[in-house]
Amino acid sequence: MSAFRTLDDVSDLSGKTALVRVDFNVPMENGSISDDTRLRVALPTIRDLTGKGAKVALLAHFDRPKGQRVPSMSLQPVVARLSSLLGAPVAFAEDCIGPDAAGAIAALPAGGVLLLENVRFHKGEEANDPAFAEALAALGDVYVNDAFSAAHRAHASTEGLAHRRPAYAGRSMQRELEALQAALSTPKRPVVGVVGGSKVSTKLDLLQNLVGKLDSLAIGGGMANTFLFAQGHPVGASLCEKDMADTARAIMAEAAKKGCELLLPVDLVCAEDLKPGVATHTRALDGVADGDKIFDAGPASVARLIAAIDAAATVVWNGPLGVFEVPPFDAATVAVARHAAALAKAGKIIAVAGGGDTVAALHAAGVADDFTFVSTAGGAFLEWMEGKVLPGVEALKA
Ligand code: 3PG
Repeated sequence: MSAFRTLDDVSDLSGKTALVRVDFNVPMENGSISDDTRLRVALPTIRDLTGKGAKVALLAHFDRPKGQRVPSMSLQPVVARLSSLLGAPVAFAEDCIGPDAAGAIAALPAGGVLLLENVRFHKGEEANDPAFAEALAALGDVYVNDAFSAAHRAHASTEGLAHRRPAYAGRSMQRELEALQAALSTPKRPVVGVVGGSKVSTKLDLLQNLVGKLDSLAIGGGMANTFLFAQGHPVGASLCEKDMADTARAIMAEAAKKGCELLLPVDLVCAEDLKPGVATHTRALDGVADGDKIFDAGPASVARLIAAIDAAATVVWNGPLGVFEVPPFDAATVAVARHAAALAKAGKIIAVAGGGDTVAALHAAGVADDFTFVSTAGGAFLEWMEGKVLPGVEALKA
């Protein structure tokens, strides 16, 4: 973390306004927040800054209004929940720049908190327009980025602003970066990766990056079918990207060259249809019948992956091993997640996970809290694992 200034590098902010980029792009159902994790993770940064005497002006996006003022994408509904989590009043400004925003900041007491309206209501946000970034910068004295999950976007509030005011990583950003560095950049070895998901084509960059970094990599979900097909195994009527077979073979060759052991399923749970409680058959690799659809890894595959995790010091996880939303095809994901979580809780391994589906699967298995770290990020976590540069993180190094 030495490349970044953190909130430890600033002690007194009395009389100052901190512009804090948070990610309040929270799931909503019928106008109310269905998961407030992203609000909760912002609290330590807000409290740290208010404790140092700053006025805190929160910048955030919600959904994709594409530069238009879309009332259903207002951040106003977030205010009440944030205020109750914080245990303090949270003011709201109808705009994130200009007189509305400046007036609301002027009216805040020292240590007060204000949420500014959706930055994506302005076209300048996604365009990273210098004039818009300047208009944001004019509102405050320091910039704090606490939105790792939006750091893959080179937008005005995630990137441009960092060059215009002294910039710091917030506590959540700091935790994400430290956890991801511990999992991939400077991990304790051996490191085992678990990557699932339906398609090789969407995780190509990820697989290519990981085989160069990990000691072993378990591949699950629909994408494992493509690898098995590429090895000449039958996949019946399963999801399989047959046109990606050459790519799968190239990844297998690269893994062998780099010394990364690929853990493909050694047995498979199949059914004719994806329905809860449907009759299932556990098949050996060459036993998949024409009408079979593969929906999960089998018990022998689970046992092998658990043994690899037992021998590992670090586990990094993105994507479920089967169709975990439809029981009993959650069995492999749940069994492996519970095992990794128990070892992490006992301090025997570092277990880091991220990505929307993965987090949902860990919650379904009841073990998200026992992982060493669960990222709040979807796309940003994936891009980090792909080895890509995240503009919002890079800008903090400047
Ligand atoms: C997310 O929800 O992953 C982030 O807030 C980024 O949102 P976006 O994909 O709309 O940029």
